[in-house]
Amino acid sequence: MTLPAHKVLDHLATSILAINADFVITSVNSSAEHLLRLSKRHIIGRELSELLTNASLLRDAVLTAKNRNASHIEHELQIDTPSAGTLYVNVTFTPIDTYTLLEFQPIDTQLRINREANMRAQQQTNRELLRNLAHEIKNPLGGLRGAAQLLMTELESTGLREYTRVIIEEADRLRSLMDRLLGPNRPPKLAPTNIHRVLERARSLIQAEFTAISIRRDYDTSLPEIDADAERLIQVVLNISRNAAQAMQGKGNITFRTQIARRVAIAGRQVKLALQVDIIDTGPGIPPDIINDIFYPLVSHREGGSGLGLTIAQGGIHAHQGSIDVESQPGRTIFTILLPLNESPNLS
Ligand SMILES: Nc1ncnc2c1ncn2[C@@H]1O[C@H](COP(=O)(O)OP(=O)(O)OP(=O)(O)O)[C@@H](O)[C@H]1O
Ligand SMILES: [Mg+2]
Repeated sequence: MTLPAHKVLDHLATSILAINADFVITSVNSSAEHLLRLSKRHIIGRELSELLTNASLLRDAVLTAKNRNASHIEHELQIDTPSAGTLYVNVTFTPIDTYTLLEFQPIDTQLRINREANMRAQQQTNRELLRNLAHEIKNPLGGLRGAAQLLMTELESTGLREYTRVIIEEADRLRSLMDRLLGPNRPPKLAPTNIHRVLERARSLIQAEFTAISIRRDYDTSLPEIDADAERLIQVVLNISRNAAQAMQGKGNITFRTQIARRVAIAGRQVKLALQVDIIDTGPGIPPDIINDIFYPLVSHREGGSGLGLTIAQGGIHAHQGSIDVESQPGRTIFTILLPLNESPNLS
């Protein structure tokens, strides 16, 4: 007895689609149904572009394979799908008569891990550059302020003294900005910490500042304690929640949610167990033109904002060997913090 071809296809781990010359899908195996999170009857007969939103990239690859009359591989493609979100895959295109076979190999986890590790290295470099710059600005600033103060005592005209006052005040403002840019220069003071105490403390501070914001709690109270610097974590939660409250103009909902996360990628490695904190708001969302840059210093879309709150928050989480990320759309913005559990953080 021989095994029917369709049975073989359905047992392959690789996801396979066949398309005809009009880019209409004519066959699909079980693995592809699983990848696209759609059943066969929702896939067959549809055009490729209906299922994979950036299909022009795939079309070009199909044409390349056809022109060469040989298999063609595209590596590390990022493909958006309405049904299964973003996929990271390697795709092999093989022309067969007028048809083309598409084989998808997900490379999700490894690619994400590499991306995160690269991003973190880049951020570290940027932060050091900024620290050096802040130091360079602070040094002459002291001299400038001192000279203005001396001048003030020498000047008799109140009009002229007003000018020196402006110099001193502006020097102080710049100095405090530089101090925030430099961040805390002590290593975190670790102690067994209950994450819910941290959140409750931040909650009461935010509540006092923004009385019309309602803060909901969705806590997994069975979470273990972690070795952490509670003061720095409070600062992190405050910076994120304050942004949320400001974005909602002082009215709306914030949710603090905690849970255990399993098998997640943090700082370029797989972690078995992590503590996950989500801070969710119902505000307008982060403007799309800055969402990829909001953790960089001096990126701000807020009147009077210095663009340091999230840089400091990220620094605090990285000091705990954790990760911080954001997803945002109008009406729902989620900041997700992951702190590794079970291993004592190796703090440099
Ligand atoms: N929850 C949020 N909803 C909408 N926009 C947000 C949210 N969180 C951050 N942002 C945007 O990201 C920008 C950067 O935030 P960040 O806290 O780093 O700086 P800032 O709030 O502008 O200034 P600072 O916190 O230093 O006073 C904000 O200016 C705002 O435009
Ligand atoms: Mg802020």
